[in-house]
Amino acid sequence: MKQYLSIDDIPDVDALVKKALTFKKDPLSANKLGIGKSLLLLFSNPSLRTRLSTEMAGKNLGMRVTTMDLSSGWKLEYEDGITMNTDKAEHIQEAARVVSQYADIIGFRSFPSLVDREKDYQDFQIQRLANLASKPIINMESAIRHPLQALADLVTIMEHSKSKNPKVVLSWAPHPKPLPQAVANSFINMMRRNEMDLVITHPKGMDLAPAMVKDTPVEYDQFKAFKGADFVYTKSWSSYSNYGQTAFLPDWMVDKEKMKKTNQAKFMHCLPVRRNVVVADDVIDSADSVVISQANNRTYAAQAILSEILSNA
Ligand code: CP
Repeated sequence: MKQYLSIDDIPDVDALVKKALTFKKDPLSANKLGIGKSLLLLFSNPSLRTRLSTEMAGKNLGMRVTTMDLSSGWKLEYEDGITMNTDKAEHIQEAARVVSQYADIIGFRSFPSLVDREKDYQDFQIQRLANLASKPIINMESAIRHPLQALADLVTIMEHSKSKNPKVVLSWAPHPKPLPQAVANSFINMMRRNEMDLVITHPKGMDLAPAMVKDTPVEYDQFKAFKGADFVYTKSWSSYSNYGQTAFLPDWMVDKEKMKKTNQAKFMHCLPVRRNVVVADDVIDSADSVVISQANNRTYAAQAILSEILSNA
């Protein structure tokens, strides 16, 4: 693997899941692989899980890890030919080439504008970095993708699934703020690649990009969608067609009544989550909630990706 911008960069998903589970059993089993190598993590937006788990993953492989917050005081300009008289401190043209001299692998996080759909769906910022940098880039959540999260999600499903193709429901959730579509997009991509029995449920108007959904069934009745589910993955996202807009619909919260329709489904969420808005306390605190172990798997998913890139360097 030369980079990890999207799930399409994974040559063999099964092998990668196995690798992540091997690291989970023995996190230091390859602790010499990254000796003498530097991992640089750049965050244009804040993070708890991605930052700490990717730092941990690099350290478990013996890498030197540096993290930089670009959100306050070091904003980057991505457009060419612009007069830089705003709050942007540096152009991506210089920044990408400079940081490539300091790192062997570069992780990058940036969120979408949720205003300019065309540019967001070009994954403009991370693509500019990838095109200008001379070192491999890892996507730590971009405008439209969160592939590290999706790999951890798949690892979690594989750990808990009783069948090869469980029924997985991706359920839209209410949230006070419009949120990116990145987690949902990459989750759909990963589930489709693994031929899971995936159903998406959301209120009319809170649709995702047709190019991401493809022919995945969409059920507008959340109760119907939950019937017989083995996994319920809930996540809020803003609308694709009414780009960046959201609707606050409290009835879409996942609660015990809805979970009773399932095949004693495991409850999943990428976190952070708004309790009693997205999910009721008695669901997230139940024995069927796997959100904490899902977040733990972020370390081993990131470690599997880093080890693949280091092995191919
Ligand atoms: N799930 C996730 O990406 O969490 P953070 O925003 O805390 O990194």
